[in-house]
Amino acid sequence: MRIAVISDIHGNLNALRRVLDDIESQRAEDIVCLGDTVGYGPEPEECLSLVRERGISMVMGNHEQALADPAFLDGFNPHAREALRHTATFLSADSLDYIRQLPRFIVRHGARFVHGLPPESVGIYLFQADTRKLRGIFEAARERICFVGHTHELLLVWYDGERATKDELRPGLNPVVPSYRYIVNVGSVGQPRDGDNRAKYVIWNRKAHTVELRRVEYDYKDTAAKIIARGFDKRYAERLY
Ligand SMILES: [Fe+2]
Repeated sequence: MRIAVISDIHGNLNALRRVLDDIESQRAEDIVCLGDTVGYGPEPEECLSLVRERGISMVMGNHEQALADPAFLDGFNPHAREALRHTATFLSADSLDYIRQLPRFIVRHGARFVHGLPPESVGIYLFQADTRKLRGIFEAARERICFVGHTHELLLVWYDGERATKDELRPGLNPVVPSYRYIVNVGSVGQPRDGDNRAKYVIWNRKAHTVELRRVEYDYKDTAAKIIARGFDKRYAERLY
């Protein structure tokens, strides 16, 4: 079974559409979204609608969390906070209701899906956990593999029963050892920060024991123009280049 995992779309509809096309061409049987579908980008409502229309299961990201409960806005820098307030003006009441009921994590196909850090943190980044802390997380984990977003970067963390090791998540197929445990940081569809501006997502092949990192070209110039046209800070347009 092939499961596509997407994350951090951030209102970038051009990137989301191209990634969904790519997923279709790869014949994935299920898609899970790790949150932050909104925030920074120009088409938050359109992205949420498309995710829901396609029946994609989604966990809560820190951007959704701050829209659901403004107390969480304190955790954002002033620019991101302003972008979120602006994002809220584009969202329908129905989308806000949907955001409020999002789960903190999903367990499916024997895997765990969470925005920040397992078992269920929306806001803690994977890089905040050192290998000692990660070892504790792996030992407490019920699932063999967990997928996270939030950093917009790529990382493969594995645990062989003795130590946790942070490794590169390479483009193409990354083999996973069936007896090991893993945390996969899947990168970002809509606002990559891994030094390559293509949209990123992964396909987990349960049977073949691989995690495939896919990089998808999209019209980032058009997204950048929409960010400015819709009144968002131009820093979020520049970040796409
Ligand atoms: Fe994000």
